[in-house]
Amino acid sequence: MALNIKIEKTTAPKAKPDWSKLGFGKIFTDHMFIMDYTEGQGWHDARIVPYQKIALEPSAMVFHYAQEMFEGLKAYKTADGQVQLFRPQKNIERMNNTNKRMCIPQVDPDDVLQAIKAVVDVDRDWIPEAEGTSLYIRPFIIAVDPFLGVHVAKQYMFMIILSPVGSYYPDGINPVKIFVETEYVRAVKGGTGYAKVGGNYAASLIGQEKAEKLGYAQVLWLDGIEHKYIDEVGAMNVFFVIDGEIITPSLEDGNILPGVTRASCIELLRSWGYKVTERKVSVAELYDAHAAGKLNEGFGTGTAAVISPIGELNDDGNKIILNDGKIGPISQKLYDNLTGIQWGRVADPFGWVEKV
Ligand code: COI
Repeated sequence: MALNIKIEKTTAPKAKPDWSKLGFGKIFTDHMFIMDYTEGQGWHDARIVPYQKIALEPSAMVFHYAQEMFEGLKAYKTADGQVQLFRPQKNIERMNNTNKRMCIPQVDPDDVLQAIKAVVDVDRDWIPEAEGTSLYIRPFIIAVDPFLGVHVAKQYMFMIILSPVGSYYPDGINPVKIFVETEYVRAVKGGTGYAKVGGNYAASLIGQEKAEKLGYAQVLWLDGIEHKYIDEVGAMNVFFVIDGEIITPSLEDGNILPGVTRASCIELLRSWGYKVTERKVSVAELYDAHAAGKLNEGFGTGTAAVISPIGELNDDGNKIILNDGKIGPISQKLYDNLTGIQWGRVADPFGWVEKV
């Protein structure tokens, strides 16, 4: 049965921003979706309301023990004015995998898709149209019981907020400089690395701060045991091309976020006949390949970051420049085709887009 969503529209719509200066995640639309969960009752009271502050007890469990999750996907406006989502079912599937890990109740995938489409539809006129811009969709769930015992909560709020965005990095698709983090770790086997939870990002801030002070855009996280193998960049999964073979860390150990863009790139690359291998890759292997002239290019993938070429790696002061600091041919081809499908400029042979 379809979700019964009550809609209360704002009586005071906000002025639209300057679409050419969006950046990432700074502006929010006129409406939001909310649904509550109460033990014994399940998810209830689905509603779309004006974007607003929410009232929570200071004792709400999410503030203390971080029982929460989030997702990220985008809505795109095509040249003929249609609105489409990119593989929303993958985000919803990952949402329930995260919920399982975090002891948050499961959500009905059809209800979540309906809620996403409904709130995007209400704020349709907030979807920017300029090249490279889209509407970022942020579904998230928080534990709200007023209780200080360390326990699984009994009450939750599920919300969806929307933000018109441009590129995640100020330099757009220009190559980013990445700092290899050798002191702190992001995830270990058995932890929450594969789940989309705020705690993973909170734990990464210290490395991110260090990298930014040194002029680097992001941190390349290494495995939590040997500090040897590459995991991911926090806001992106990573790929490297060594001697024509495309290599990305495997999901096997559960340290890495199973990115929707990551999976889509692997499928696209394989459909074009490239060899893509998901396996362990050490920093030493990257540096050796570079020394041998075989490290062709590297790039990060993510919903927010899209395809972001890697221009430089810095491992403990030892710097290497990839592809002369320029966008590599594989990064460019992926960027053109992926964004082409998302904005409806190229055919969608895989059936990835979903109309709103
Ligand atoms: C996304 O790409 O949607 C993410 O969630 C990364 C984010 C932390 C900005």
